[in-house]
Amino acid sequence: MNCGVIGAGRVGMMHIRNIITIPEVNILGVAELFIDHVKDELHELGITNTYKDYHELLEDKDIEAVFVFASTDSHEEIVTAAAKAGKHIFCEKPLSMDVNEEASLNVLRAVKENGVKLQIGFNRRIDRQFRDVFEKVRAGKIGDPQIVKITSRDPDLLPHDLIKRIGGLLFDFTMHDFDMVRYMMDSNVTEVYAKGGTLIDPTLQEINDVDTIAIVLQFENGTFGLIDNSRRAVYGYDQRVEVFGSEGMLKADNVNNSTVEYYSKEDTSLKKPLPIFTERYREAYIAEMRFFIDALLNDGPLLATGEDVIMAQRVAVAAQKSLETGLPVKVDTTLPKI
Ligand SMILES: NC(=O)c1ccc[n+]([C@@H]2O[C@H](COP(=O)([O-])OP(=O)(O)OC[C@H]3O[C@@H](n4cnc5c(N)ncnc54)[C@H](O)[C@@H]3O)[C@@H](O)[C@H]2O)c1
Repeated sequence: MNCGVIGAGRVGMMHIRNIITIPEVNILGVAELFIDHVKDELHELGITNTYKDYHELLEDKDIEAVFVFASTDSHEEIVTAAAKAGKHIFCEKPLSMDVNEEASLNVLRAVKENGVKLQIGFNRRIDRQFRDVFEKVRAGKIGDPQIVKITSRDPDLLPHDLIKRIGGLLFDFTMHDFDMVRYMMDSNVTEVYAKGGTLIDPTLQEINDVDTIAIVLQFENGTFGLIDNSRRAVYGYDQRVEVFGSEGMLKADNVNNSTVEYYSKEDTSLKKPLPIFTERYREAYIAEMRFFIDALLNDGPLLATGEDVIMAQRVAVAAQKSLETGLPVKVDTTLPKI
């Protein structure tokens, strides 16, 4: 599968390094606004066709699919252009951090009208641990699921200028959790109540963001969810999921780089969680790309669709409103008309 990449920043370069390990994929070119910053690195990886303007990459007739790793504020425009150019698309989450859902729906309409496929980068769906929990919940191993609980804490703060491009805590970080709770419970969120603040970096208020948040959710099937997020966990990247049900509980704990535990007269200890998303989800990032390529080559299912990202964005918009008003906010559960 001949592919192109649009956006080679923090996440884009990580994905490119992962994608080149997949034998079925051939990266024909990379477009990046600041291409001079990454040209040498791309050349070292064997990628010589580089562009500043992504429209030029889309003109390459040999490219069948594009990976969009550009900043979130450019996703709607780039995905629409790629669909019109007849390319299949993998796009990082979310499609937008705007309250204007109609704009995102227009993107999905362009995808449909041009007969291309779009997969969204909800990589946690295919993380080995979380997928195991998901499959066991679906197989009825814990009876009827009743509560889903996600702890998701970053190791440290992000720079303000990055937050402005990719969204604050809710639209960048919690976005994954909004998708995961829906995925685990197989039900849409009907109501969200969010409390958050700046316990770590008060200057985040200048860009209307928070660094700590606690969220209560209700689902269409009557079940409940809890999410807690922090931008700074001093012990590493804290990623845990629990689903509690009528016949038991499933719990995915953190992944450490060593299974060795230390025991002494005074103390016991275990290794810290893997430090950052690039390491914790490395396997999942490759697996989601394989899933996408497989969907294209064998007309298989997509891991996460445009509809999935709209449903997650809706919860983020409602959670933002809840933060601002201090009240629970209803979420529309009707599936988007595309
Ligand atoms: N799935 C995950 O775990 C995960 C983790 C972090 C970030 N992300 C997502 O990845 C995306 C990128 O985040 P990032 O942290 O790498 O941001 P970044 O700012 O480091 O990188 C984005 C890059 O896109 C480039 N860009 C912007 N507009 C462009 C355009 N029109 N044409 C070409 N290049 C363009 C920028 O120059 C920049 O280099 C965001 O949507 C973010 O939400 C996903």
